[in-house]
Amino acid sequence: MIFNIQPHERAIFSIISQTAAELNVPAYVVGGYVRDRLLARPSKDMDIVCVGDGIVLAKSVADKLRPIPRVVVYKRFGTAMLKHHDLEIEFVGARKESYRHDSRKPEVEAGSLEDDQNRRDFTINALAVSLNDGNFGMIVDPFNGLQHLEEKLIKTPLEPDKTFSDDPLRMMRAIRFATQLNFKIDDETLISIGKERERINIISKERITTELNKIILSSKPSVGFKLLQTTGLLKLVFPELAALKGVEIKNGVGHKDNFFHTLKVLDNICQTTDDLWLRWAALLHDIAKPPTKRFHAELGWTFHGHDALGATMVPRIFTHLRLPMDHKMKYVQKIVALHMRPINLTKGEITDSGIRRLLFEAGEEVDDLMLLCEADITSRNEDKIQRYYDNMKFIRKRLEEVEEKDRLRNWQPPITGEMIMETFGIPPSRPVGEIKNAIREAILEGEIANEYHAAHQLMLEKGSALGLEAKTLASK
Ligand code: CTP
Repeated sequence: MIFNIQPHERAIFSIISQTAAELNVPAYVVGGYVRDRLLARPSKDMDIVCVGDGIVLAKSVADKLRPIPRVVVYKRFGTAMLKHHDLEIEFVGARKESYRHDSRKPEVEAGSLEDDQNRRDFTINALAVSLNDGNFGMIVDPFNGLQHLEEKLIKTPLEPDKTFSDDPLRMMRAIRFATQLNFKIDDETLISIGKERERINIISKERITTELNKIILSSKPSVGFKLLQTTGLLKLVFPELAALKGVEIKNGVGHKDNFFHTLKVLDNICQTTDDLWLRWAALLHDIAKPPTKRFHAELGWTFHGHDALGATMVPRIFTHLRLPMDHKMKYVQKIVALHMRPINLTKGEITDSGIRRLLFEAGEEVDDLMLLCEADITSRNEDKIQRYYDNMKFIRKRLEEVEEKDRLRNWQPPITGEMIMETFGIPPSRPVGEIKNAIREAILEGEIANEYHAAHQLMLEKGSALGLEAKTLASK
């Protein structure tokens, strides 16, 4: 079969082809680029394999391009990369690899195109397009990769135990591709993942997490997490999530399976956001259900405090998975901590002060929090679902009204600690905190307006009740 070369590829392909002919090193486009183009998915990373020295080919190609790009050489890997328009093109010599048991770092030897295709992870990733005179544009497909693209199948080119044992990250990649592309993993390949799963322990956490993030960013991440669970990989790479699986029954009373519930919530939120961190918050929202699970004769199963405990688990999980420990972690933690608040509000009378407190605590994150709460509605009972949606709609309306009136979203207290110290001529001390708290509480409870004069008046009253005397008029 001939690869359908697009107009934007023609020039670069023919420059590589011409250079490869001059150097007498047959060259091919291989791997993900070919796969993605055949699937009509966008791709900006192109890999070129040549039977010879990839670094020399890269430098000679660069000399022919205008403007001449910089060639970045990775001597240790024998590869070279250059950027041309919006493409990143990597050049490498074809190789044979053999792996040691304790490492995924191979010992590399030069090889033929066939050797190079043999050592690749999946048949759909082992396709090569010839850039050589005589068969320019022909697809070299030794393992039926084209057929597997049609059949939507992930299958290893060689015996799967060998492919996975050589590089165990490929087990995660198989599951990630199945999720991203909506493909099925071939039975034998899937069984092998289950068998080889312990080998994942030699892979760095960063690489595993890169694959987890790609699964989470797919349109239906539950596919990947279910595969991770059934193959036994989940327990090894993300034990806290694996612990959500299962239903316990006491006195004939069961609870919902929190693993499947969480996956449903994650799939739901993927319909409304592409944000990785809000998706992480969905994945972690009930993470503390196993450690907080209790059975009460009258109440049945409860998970009291799973929101607060879940928030304390977030930094630990982020550390283990080498996720960023910055504002993104804090964001996920905040959403997990607050995820029960809107639903709890609907259990009693919805007061202005309840709404104000929610706005005050959620701040800028209030909209994202509401998206999670809506995604969290997973009942099978249609009436219940409708009732919960109506409740959330009502909370959204009330949030809007109170926000318009009180501007609490990015709340800054109208009276600061400095103003209190200056007014009463006191150093940082307990009364300063007490006065600040009293002002905040009065505003949230709606006893005074969210503005300077009312807050100033209350500061003077509280100060005098604490035996303090105003020395100056605090500057606004
Ligand atoms: N490859 C492999 N084993 C790995 C990683 C990569 O055999 N563990 C091979 C595959 O042939 C793959 C190619 O190297 O197609 C390029 O790898 P990479 O750029 O990491 O992945 P892509 O397949 O391009 O997919 P993505 O960009 O989505 O990660």
